[in-house]
Amino acid sequence: MTFDINFKLLAVALLFTSCGAELQGCDKALALKITNIYENGDTAFHYDYCEDINDGRGYTSGIAGFCTGTGDAWLVIQEYHKLTGGKDKMSQFDAVLADYAASGNNSTVGLTEYCSVWRKLGSSNAKFKQAQDTIRDDMYMAPAMEYAKQLGLRTSIAQAQLYDAGIQHGASNGPDGLGGMINSTNAQITTDEAGDSGSTLTINQYKIDEIVWLKKFLAVSSVILKSPPI
Ligand SMILES: *[C@@H]1O[C@H](CO)[C@@H](O)[C@H](O)[C@H]1NC(C)=O
Ligand SMILES: *[C@@H]1O[C@H](CO)[C@@H](O)[C@H](O)[C@H]1NC(C)=O
Ligand SMILES: *[C@@H]1O[C@H](CO)[C@@H](O)[C@H](O)[C@H]1NC(C)=O
Repeated sequence: MTFDINFKLLAVALLFTSCGAELQGCDKALALKITNIYENGDTAFHYDYCEDINDGRGYTSGIAGFCTGTGDAWLVIQEYHKLTGGKDKMSQFDAVLADYAASGNNSTVGLTEYCSVWRKLGSSNAKFKQAQDTIRDDMYMAPAMEYAKQLGLRTSIAQAQLYDAGIQHGASNGPDGLGGMINSTNAQITTDEAGDSGSTLTINQYKIDEIVWLKKFLAVSSVILKSPPI
């Protein structure tokens, strides 16, 4: 699902109040729900989602689209094992998941029951949901907030959009990841630009209003979104 940049800004501006230096509490909950709207069309957390969408990444599952072929699903399962003590309904897949994670193998061989177990746990098991939350935060929220800190972002709107872009493109430093998108945005800052957000960033030694910067960032990320999604 793609949304117009102005719609994104309007939607989040209506929802957020400006608060602390990092997304937390109510603002973090709101940021997560906004991303759910962009991703799924509703505010719900789809902990029980699991299917092979034939994108070459094996099964895609849970609140952040954790994949068996890229290794992040295996991170969730390991986190879940920590919470259960190690022996649980997912244990039967450990050897295969660890193997596919290590080799980046998108095969679903050996994982026939994986989705039915995932759906059952995802719909009712508090520890399984907690494991998904933890890996989502480690993989996407923490890196996004680290980038936000480096940039000096102060508004919840901008912080939430960094997180959202990370979820959609990956939080990596690669050219199409969050780090690369931030760099591409910053490369466009060649003069001072005022605005009325009440927050001014210093980028390439220029003074730029935070929301003016954010609009440029959203333009960069929406172009990348039109290329094949990750
Ligand atoms: C797995 O990945 C390969 C390329 O790495 C691709 O050709 C193949 O179609 C993928 N298989 C599935 C089931 O997605
Ligand atoms: C991926 O896993 C399948 C099934 O376990 C196996 O047949 C295949 O050789 C593996 N592919 C690679 C590239 O290791
Ligand atoms: C982004 O910029 C940082 C800091 O200059 C650099 O370390 C990193 O390699 C860059 N990443 C990309 C994808 O260009």
